[in-house]
Amino acid sequence: MPALCESVAAYAETARATLPPEIRDYLDAGSGNGHTRRDNEVALDAIALRPRPLADVRGGHTRIQLFGRTLAHPLLLAPIAYQRLFHPQGETGVAMAAAAQDTPLIVSSLASEPLEAIASGGADLWFQLYWQADRERTLRLLRRAEAAGAQAIVFTVDAPVKQATLALPPEVTAVNLEPAPLPAPAPGGSAVFGQWMAVAPRWDDLDWLRSQTRLPLLVKGLLHAEDARRALAAGCDGLVVSNHGGRILDGTPTALAVLREFRQALGPSLPLLFDSGIRSGQHAFKAIAAGAQAVLIGRPYIWGLAAAGPMGVAHVIRLLRDELEMTMALMGCATVASIANESQ
Ligand code: FNR
Repeated sequence: MPALCESVAAYAETARATLPPEIRDYLDAGSGNGHTRRDNEVALDAIALRPRPLADVRGGHTRIQLFGRTLAHPLLLAPIAYQRLFHPQGETGVAMAAAAQDTPLIVSSLASEPLEAIASGGADLWFQLYWQADRERTLRLLRRAEAAGAQAIVFTVDAPVKQATLALPPEVTAVNLEPAPLPAPAPGGSAVFGQWMAVAPRWDDLDWLRSQTRLPLLVKGLLHAEDARRALAAGCDGLVVSNHGGRILDGTPTALAVLREFRQALGPSLPLLFDSGIRSGQHAFKAIAAGAQAVLIGRPYIWGLAAAGPMGVAHVIRLLRDELEMTMALMGCATVASIANESQ
C-alpha cells in the first residue's frame, strides 16, 4: 500500500511525481497563462487571520445544515471528470473515502465509472449535470442520477467550450453518457458558434430544468451578479461560486472576489458554496468568513487519489478538516455559523 503523506502539499508533490506528464498537466492546468488559477489561491492566502484567544470554544464542532440535512463538516468533494485517469479505482475509490469521512461527493457527468457503482459506496451523493445537447438526453441523465440516489443537482454552466487538453486513453471514458454528436459544421462556419454553442444550454433550458426535478438545484460557475439573480428567479436553490479552478477563461475575477460580491448582493441566507483555490483548512475558514456556507475541495483530493488511492483521498479530507478545526479554535469560533459573524 502506498505511504500516506504528511500534508496536502506533500500529496501534491507526490501526485506530480507519480502521474504521467500529460495527466499531471491536465490536472494542474489553468487556461491561458494560468493567471486565474494562481490568483484564486493568492487571494485566499492574502486574507489575514486575527486570532481570538481565551474564547470559550468547548463543545465546538464543524456540523452544518444544508438543504435540510446535517453534514459533519462543510467540506464537499468537487465534481472532477475521469477519475480513473488518476487511479484504477477512480470514482468508486473516491466514494469509499467520502463515505469514511462523512463527505458528500459531487459526481461529475464525465465520471469514468457507472453512477450506480459509485453510489453503492454509501457516500452522500450529489450529481453534477452537464447539458447533454438536448432536453431528452439531459432528462435521461438527470433521472438516472435521481434513481442512483443523488441528493442535489449541481448544474455546471461555465464550460460550454473548452480547449481539449488531453487525449483520453481508451479505457477511460464518460461511461454514463449517451453519444451526443455535434451538429455538422457549416462550410466555412465557426465551430464555436455553429457546433459547440448550438448544443449549449440557455436560460430557458435552466427554467425547464428547474421544472423537472424536486431535488435542490444549484448552478455552478456564474460570475456575474445579474446572472446569479436570474438563476435565483428561475427557482434555483443555491449557487456554487466557482471559476472552475481557472480552467476555462483566464482573466476572470478570483472566485473569492465573486463570493464576497454575491454574498453582499444576495443577502445572508442564500446557500452559496465555494470552490477554486482551496488548499488548506485555513482557506476553507477564510471562504466561509467571506460568505460561503460550505466549500468544495477540487484538485487536492485528486492529489490524494493519485498519490495513495482511496486512503489518500480520505487522508486529505481529514487533514483539511483538522486544519479547519484548529483554525476555528484559534479564531475563537465554536461553530461554522459563528465564522461568518466574527471573522471578517
Ligand atoms: C474539474 N472541474 C469540473 N467541474 C465540473 O463541474 N465538472 C467536471 O467534470 C469537472 N472536471 C474537472 C476536472 C479536473 C481535472 C479539474 C481540476 C477540475 C472543476 C472542479 O469542480 C472545481 O471547480 C475546481 O477543481 C476548483 O478549483 P481547484 O480547487 O481545483 O483549484
